[in-house]
Parts: sequence; structure tokens; C-alpha cells
Amino acid sequence: MKILGIETSCDETAAAVVENGFLVRSSVVASQVDVHHAYGGVVPELAARKHMENICIVVDQALAEAGVNLGDINGIAVTRGPGLVGALLVGFSFAKALSYGMGVPWIGVDHLKGHLNSVFLGHQKPAFPFVALLVSGGHTGIYHVTSHIEARLMGQTRDDAAGEAFDKVAKMLELGYPGGVLISEMAVQGDPEKIHFPRAWIDKTRYAFSFSGLKTAVKRYIETHADYREHMADIAAGFEEAVVDVLSQKLLHAAEETGCRDMAVVGGVAANRRLRKKIAEAAGERGLKLHVPDISLCGDNAAMIAAAGYHYLADPEGPRGRLDDDVYSRAQA
Ligand code: KG4
Ligand code: ZN
Repeated sequence: MKILGIETSCDETAAAVVENGFLVRSSVVASQVDVHHAYGGVVPELAARKHMENICIVVDQALAEAGVNLGDINGIAVTRGPGLVGALLVGFSFAKALSYGMGVPWIGVDHLKGHLNSVFLGHQKPAFPFVALLVSGGHTGIYHVTSHIEARLMGQTRDDAAGEAFDKVAKMLELGYPGGVLISEMAVQGDPEKIHFPRAWIDKTRYAFSFSGLKTAVKRYIETHADYREHMADIAAGFEEAVVDVLSQKLLHAAEETGCRDMAVVGGVAANRRLRKKIAEAAGERGLKLHVPDISLCGDNAAMIAAAGYHYLADPEGPRGRLDDDVYSRAQA
């Protein structure tokens, strides 16, 4: 069963063809970084306009790269939320119209369920139930995942998402946007032990996160060290280590508490090499299995949306999209 996935929740116009929920035939992501770069963040109105320009081209390219025609597609999965409403509406309306015209079923998929399914797009698949750390620019939480479409949120951030903290610290250091990759590249040259930034555990045995204090600590360091430009790599490394420390320990604790042998790290920040390495090492020591998506499938993409959508559409009794369905901006409880 071939599903066409469409994702336009933020600043990436993406389309993909995925077979049977795991085999990626194509995954095209048109980044809008150039459009938003000058503003230091995503401008919602510009994102929506750019999606309108890109969507037909990106879908055509995904079909061409997969070597299929629209007639080969059995269903369409599209991101319904959370995200920027104007941006979501472009992909959502496009998917509705296309499915109506083609006479195939479609389904609106939660973006976070998409990220959780990204870990099934590789060779090794986690066994249910597993615990997942979802770390992106908009979300940071730990989930107990019991099926492709069911996951219980064990805890999440009370303020900034981890990716957001990376982006804001990159802005303070005038590294540019988006900041996650830039900080991690700079951190490689630094010493993570040199500058110690605070870790907000809140409660070491629970799964709530907070990154605003860490962000303020970096800001204070910059303000009180006139020569901070000479220590940029150490600041980046110290900051990255503080984030990675909390994320990894909480995920390991969740695995221990739930008795899960399999763990997953998904979302844009899952591309962070220090995070992948630290959790992989700890997993190895404890005999646990860590699953991470390929780097190209950590950030927003449509393959993960197609993968999640497949599990609704492959079920004859499963839900189907309706023409009066609407998008949503905030995470659903
Ligand atoms: O999942 P994603 O593409 O979009 C959202 O759903 O939010 O995540 C984007 C976030 C950005 O904040 C970006 O800075 C961060 O992921 N990111 C990273 C790295 N690559 C991307 N953060 C840390 N290290 C990285 N290598
Ligand atoms: Zn995302």
C-alpha cells in the first residue's frame, strides 16, 4: 500500500511516498531557511505563502523520485497539527482536494505521532511498548508508546522546547538561524567541562523539563564575560552538554520505570550527535536498545507522516479524513 505523505506544519514543504508504513520510496523536503533567515525565526505569513508556491512542485518531485504516478497512490496522509495554522492549511487543503479528485482515502495525522513513527523507517524497528524522547523546535517530551497510533505523554517541558533553547542560544552567540546544527558544530571544538551551566532536573524521578533557566545562565555568562567571543566553542559545548545530560538521564529513567527494553529519540534535535552518542553508550551499558531515525528523517519530513497515516488507512475500520475536518495549532491532550 503506497501512501503519499504531505507535511507543511512549519517552514518545510515536504512530500514523500512510503510503502506499507516503513519503506521510503522518496522523501522531498524543500527548506525555507533562506526566506526566514533574515528575521532570525519563522515568519508564519511568509511560511504559508512559500508553501503555496512549493507544494505542487514538491509533490510532483516526490512522485517522480518514487517512480510512481498519482494512479499508483492508495491513500494520502497529511499533517493536521500542531503547527502554524496558515502553514498547515496549505498542505491540509491540498490533500483534501487531491484525494477528492483521485477518489482515494486520506487522513489528517498528528505531527508528533509522525515523529514517533519516524523510527520505523529504518532497518531496525523498536518493539512495543517502548519509551521515546521527542525533541524538536516546538516540543520536548517523553512518551510511552504502545502502538503506531497510541502514545502516553509521561512528561514534557514547562517552558522552552530543547530545539528552541538551541536556537535562542545560537542567536545570543550571533551564530545565525536555525541554531541547533550551528551550536553542535561549534561544540565539537569546545570542552564541555570547562563552563558548567545549570541543569534543571525539577524532579529527577519525573519527566518535566525546563530550559529557560539554562538559557538565562548562558545570557548572564555572555553579559559578564567581555571576552566571551574567545570561548564560543566552550560555551556551545557546555550548553549542549547541559541539555544532553538532562534529556538522556530522563529517558533512561523512563525506560527503567516502565521496564521497556527499547528506546527511541526522535525530532529535529535527535540529529544532535552528542545526544545520540551519550544515549547509545548508556543504552549499551544497560543492555537496552536505542533506535534513532536516519539524520535526514529527524527534522520535519513527510515520510514520517505517511508512515503514521498508513496505520490508520490500512485498517478498513480505521478513521478517514472528512472534508469538514480542520487543522489545529496546539498539541492535543
Ligand atoms: O522537528 P523539527 O524539524 O521541527 C519541529 O517540529 O519543531 O525540529 C527543529 C529543531 C530546531 O530547533 C533545530 O535547531 C533543532 O531541531 N536541531 C538541532 C540539531 N539539528 C536540528 N538541535 C541540536 N542539534 C542538532 N544537530
Ligand atoms: Zn517536527
